[in-house]
Amino acid sequence: MFNGLKKLEYRGYDSWGIAFKEDSEIKIIKKAGRIEDFREKLPAKSHFAIGHTRWATHGSVTEENAHPHLSNNKNIAVIHNGIIENYAELKEFLIKNGYKFISQTDTEVIPNLIQYNMKNNNFEDAVKNTLKKLEGSFAIAAISRDSENIAAARRMSPMVLGISKDGFFISSDVPAFLEHTNQIISLDDNEMVIINDKIKIINFMDNREIKKEPETINLDFKESKKGKFQHYIIKEISEQEESIKRAIDQDPDFIKEIANQIENAFGVFFVACGTSYHACLSASYLFSKIAKKHINVVIASEFRNYRHFLTENTLVVAVSQSGETADVLDAVRAAKEKHSRIISIVNVPGSSLTKLSNEVIMMNAGQEVSVLSTKSYTSQLAILSLLAYASIGEFEKGIGLIKKAASYVDEIISKNLNKLENLAEMLKNKKDIFLIGRSLGFPTALEGALKIKEVSYIHAEGLAGGELKHGTLALVEKGVPVIVVSTDETKKDILNNALEIKARGGYIIGFNSENNDVYDYFIKIPLLENMEPIISIIPIQILAYYLAVKRGCDPDKPRNLAKSVTVK
Ligand code: AGP
Repeated sequence: MFNGLKKLEYRGYDSWGIAFKEDSEIKIIKKAGRIEDFREKLPAKSHFAIGHTRWATHGSVTEENAHPHLSNNKNIAVIHNGIIENYAELKEFLIKNGYKFISQTDTEVIPNLIQYNMKNNNFEDAVKNTLKKLEGSFAIAAISRDSENIAAARRMSPMVLGISKDGFFISSDVPAFLEHTNQIISLDDNEMVIINDKIKIINFMDNREIKKEPETINLDFKESKKGKFQHYIIKEISEQEESIKRAIDQDPDFIKEIANQIENAFGVFFVACGTSYHACLSASYLFSKIAKKHINVVIASEFRNYRHFLTENTLVVAVSQSGETADVLDAVRAAKEKHSRIISIVNVPGSSLTKLSNEVIMMNAGQEVSVLSTKSYTSQLAILSLLAYASIGEFEKGIGLIKKAASYVDEIISKNLNKLENLAEMLKNKKDIFLIGRSLGFPTALEGALKIKEVSYIHAEGLAGGELKHGTLALVEKGVPVIVVSTDETKKDILNNALEIKARGGYIIGFNSENNDVYDYFIKIPLLENMEPIISIIPIQILAYYLAVKRGCDPDKPRNLAKSVTVK
């Protein structure tokens, strides 16, 4: 259980907790903060337990709000991933029936509703009747003092069963029990499983029993170790030459076929969140420039607004490292309701997004442990760039350019590490850092700002160079640092923007192939046509890392964040 929860920390690490039966009572251990080794506190003979690591949605990060949550009679414990959208009315109903609530969470209504339903039902039926009342997303597991079973169920949040000779596992994701078994059964929406010395799967809405055969999951995620590196993020930044090359090590005919689908679709949407969205934005520029193809790029959480005109001829390309981002899964479900075709670019095999897609391009980046997407970003850029070249019949040219860009990674790092650490020393106490770019430099400016803010907690803002004078320039005063992200074709215009900033006291940091008088600090990087998004993000990733270290932030697990945001 401990190892399993540690493997799931990427989904959130605000608090943790476990529940088990001991002397016919339900016992709970739970705390705010990172998981601690609780193994010696578990009773030797307990043959089942449930555990949870939390990313806070409803209620602050406190011990009371940590999962598991108990029913008022303390006989039922529940853990939950997702959001119960009708929890307020359920809570009001329960309060009217004399129930008291300790936490601020939506989850706490679940064990109490099960208790309420156990007045006339056994535990399993009480759980079933409770699930029917829940609206929203959930993956839950529940145990009761009065039952030898674990009851678990899902709707819109992932859940997978592990089948081993020693027993059964239930988890949000496979890595939690992969050391015990690679035989899995994926649960689908509205499915509930009752676990004891055997398993029974039913649809809790219509009571149908469901038979499912285990499948073998070949998760080739070798357990990632830090090795000589102090943190995972710097290891993952440093391995980008290899990960970019693995990303484009694809079946050429498959890539050309996908590119052909993009070329011929009537309406193409690239849909993603965060860093993956920035990769899609870069790709839209490349498809325009290389393939003269219009690509719509939409932030996944906004995508439903476009569902009105989707058709079966629409192609949606969903890009997600984890394949579990709730906003992306929701966007894809909206597209499937309109019978649009789904192609996904994903790093985690067997993830929910792979199951919702017509075709999947695997990123092959290897496990990315740090919450920050670094190697997965350049892997996405590599695949999307290759698709752009393949769509005009220049697959091999794309391979050559991307390999050349990958070959620069080590040189950029080795030649600039000290300068970037010095720059971080200079910037570590700044209140704001701005990044500007034009054309392909603009998505890089957005991505660079995201890297800096999410790991160092310095407010960083990326913007199009041309937008400065439309407002943001008002924030520039003496000493405000502005990173200028250059591409070959935008050099003149972006340097003019730099002069506008310098004229108002800004401190200009240039990431470019050649120095310029306007720069107060210069980092030399090679530029290669259409490959700037891959090349120019590398020094910014390093800078973000050093800023975090110098500010005493955790570079791998930033506060408030999770590697995979599995709630909307
Ligand atoms: C980026 O560093 C963050 N980890 C975050 O923005 C991330 O890119 C976003 O949550 C999307 O994740 P996904 O690629 O797994 O869908």
